[in-house]
Amino acid sequence: MTLLSVNINKFALLRNSRETNHPDLEEIAKKCIQFGAQGITLHPRPDERHAKFSDLPIISKLVGNYSNIEFNIEGYPSEKFINEVNKTKPNQVTLVPDPPGALTSSFGWDCLKYKSLLIDVVKNFQQNDIRVSLFVNPSIESLINLSEILPDRIELYTFDFAKNFNSDQEKAIEPYLKVVHFLQQNIPSISYNAGHDLNLINLNFLLTKIPLIKEVSIGHALVCDALEYGLKDTIQKYLTITKR
Ligand code: PXP
Repeated sequence: MTLLSVNINKFALLRNSRETNHPDLEEIAKKCIQFGAQGITLHPRPDERHAKFSDLPIISKLVGNYSNIEFNIEGYPSEKFINEVNKTKPNQVTLVPDPPGALTSSFGWDCLKYKSLLIDVVKNFQQNDIRVSLFVNPSIESLINLSEILPDRIELYTFDFAKNFNSDQEKAIEPYLKVVHFLQQNIPSISYNAGHDLNLINLNFLLTKIPLIKEVSIGHALVCDALEYGLKDTIQKYLTITKR
């Protein structure tokens, strides 16, 4: 079974478009959990246009009321991010190399270039008992030094998979299979998450091909689906796939 973590950033974006607390992010997270989501993800970007850093303790407290729900915080490891995440102490932090102002995360870490930064940050969080996942491209070349950085997990950046899925599913998954095979041979301690542009159409294929994936974090498509099916039915539809 793969854990479904709902990324609620898009609800925060909607809330931020008016000077009210509507929709209330805490209520949305509570509903996601009641409807079966096993995790909640927030991604506070430097400009806080989606989730705000002030949302972190609220969602952390909520998630803490449930024994089996995971809180995942994503983001670029700026000094502010590191401090806030260490204070909040989520179950997992997913480190993303997106620059300030990025529309969305659009590439994974270059572990060659950012080796020393990543070694320090990963150790910092792990010493605070926070599981660390690194957002990575489906490219073995970008993973040089990963064995020294040694995060607990990697999150496979699935944009390319989703983009190529409609034209050739087998070709779309190939680079991901290569990365997982390489890591299983070379760093067997690492586990796998996946995220970005996953949806009701491509998710089953991904999880069938890479059943090792422990967690998917899904935001954009899930929120779009909720407009059509409602949040409860949408989460149920995703769970039917992840609980295969
Ligand atoms: N994983 C990471 C690291 C992300 O930055 C995002 C988007 O915030 C997601 C997963 C979820 O992507 P999507 O919104 O396309 O489902």
